[in-house]
Amino acid sequence: MGDTIRALKGMNDLFEDELATWRHVEEQARQTFLAFGFGEIRTPVLEELALFVRSVGEGTDIVEKEMYAFSDTDKKQTKVCLRPENTAGVVRALIQAGKLPADAEARVFYLGPMFRRERPQKGRYRQFHQLGAEAFGLTAPSVDVEMMAMLHAFGQRLGLSGVRLVINSLGDPADRARYLEALVAYLTPHQDRLSEDSRRRLAKNPLRILDAKDEGDRAIVQDAPRPLDFLGDEARAHFDEVRRGLELLGVPYDVDPSLVRGLDYYTRTVFELLADTGLGAQNAVAAGGRYDHLVEELGGRSTPGIGFAAGIERIVLLLDQAGATTRPDVFLIAADDGGRDQVLQLAMALRERGLGVEIDHRGRSVKAQMKRADKSGARFAMVVGQREIEAAAADLKNLQDGSVRSLALEAGVIEQATHTS
Ligand code: HAM
Repeated sequence: MGDTIRALKGMNDLFEDELATWRHVEEQARQTFLAFGFGEIRTPVLEELALFVRSVGEGTDIVEKEMYAFSDTDKKQTKVCLRPENTAGVVRALIQAGKLPADAEARVFYLGPMFRRERPQKGRYRQFHQLGAEAFGLTAPSVDVEMMAMLHAFGQRLGLSGVRLVINSLGDPADRARYLEALVAYLTPHQDRLSEDSRRRLAKNPLRILDAKDEGDRAIVQDAPRPLDFLGDEARAHFDEVRRGLELLGVPYDVDPSLVRGLDYYTRTVFELLADTGLGAQNAVAAGGRYDHLVEELGGRSTPGIGFAAGIERIVLLLDQAGATTRPDVFLIAADDGGRDQVLQLAMALRERGLGVEIDHRGRSVKAQMKRADKSGARFAMVVGQREIEAAAADLKNLQDGSVRSLALEAGVIEQATHTS
């Protein structure tokens, strides 16, 4: 035997006991998105590297340190990468398909794997999965409100507790430019005391210093100017309306003036859904914001946009996973060789009727099969052998309360009984 090969660091295999919860989360997401008028989009996992350099931003951690990038084997040796997020890919796809003409409106949602070469820890992986939604062509603050209300509704559907929505506004590009100037002016005299990371960011991406984790940086940043103090009249009015709308719909939120986000494309509203406990340092369950200039920056017509993405792994970690495994409805037990064919056929007939059915394939004894039935968590068990076939009847045992009912050996009758007993 050769050496065993293991999955790459930060990349997870997923098995049924977890995937039952995953499917539930994905299903609730689809239903929520469809109810808000979003249609699905699927785009490639591999894209041109330039797409993310131009959108997420050259000076961001994602592009600078976390990309899975390589040269394609074509003549041009095109630089390609595994997508680290999906907003840029969605925008590219919509532009390419001509779905963003002047005054167009579009609403799309997606689910799928993303890749970032981060240091893995609980809730942070190198291949992770997002569910997300993007709305294009609308500038009204009520769209921001609906987007966050949708995220809130999704959390409610899942019974997600201990999470809170935080919001902020980064203003329009001109506001942001004025703000950055003020921020750099404030930080420069302190630069010798900043962490190495933040010192580097001062030149490249000063906004990110606002959410630095380093204690010393945090102390300095505490008195730094905030984006909210630099909003122009329009961005200010927009933010006020967003707040009013959230209150109108009863969506609870806090304003966090230091919320900035790690991607460059945002303008005006930004938001995050944070978990108070259960995720450790990786406490953002979902995040998003408005990006009114991204479509244009990627070569499309000027079209505003807003969206968010949630990390499925983080949601699953937060959900109570007890009892999430799939259990068969019925475990069919073959009493003898005569029963085996019957069990095989009956299992098929019951499955066609939508029941989950398990059978034994190892010729185990009735006793051993009954043990397996108990272990499987099945609601019912039925023993079928020559005797039952001749009588055209068998006992359906309720494994939860031990009660037994004699039934005709017919799929329709058995199915009925699983609903009523
Ligand atoms: P993001 O904040 O980079 O935003 O990621 C969104 C969510 O993806 C995070 O809140 C987190 O739940 C999850 N996530 C990110 N990185 C990891 C990781 N390494 N392991 C596990 N989960 C992770 C975006 O990606 C934007 N595209 C969101 C957006 C959509 N903005 C507008 N539209």
